[in-house]
Amino acid sequence: AEVTWIADGERITADVADGINLMEAAVANGVPGIVGECGGGMMCATCHVYVESEHATGEPGPVEEDLLEFAEVPRRATSRLSCQIVARPEIDGIVVEVPSA
Ligand code: FES
Repeated sequence: AEVTWIADGERITADVADGINLMEAAVANGVPGIVGECGGGMMCATCHVYVESEHATGEPGPVEEDLLEFAEVPRRATSRLSCQIVARPEIDGIVVEVPSA
């Protein structure tokens, strides 16, 4: 799926293989501001993004919800932990914004 990150006012677009989560993809593509400290274990919230496009990525689960509550930057209705968004055909063209700390 094609994924675009907006980070530091820059747009970075990459083709992400199905099954890869958007934190891993961001790290692989050098997207600034996505650290993925816990490796996708839902323990760090350093992969926080705002989903800017209309794509349905589902609701955050309870653990994700708790982490977003304590994320460094304020959560929004569109907040997700990007390690919990897995690339699949349905999210082709998705745009996510990396919160600036
Ligand atoms: Fe740590 Fe997503 S990478 S919560």
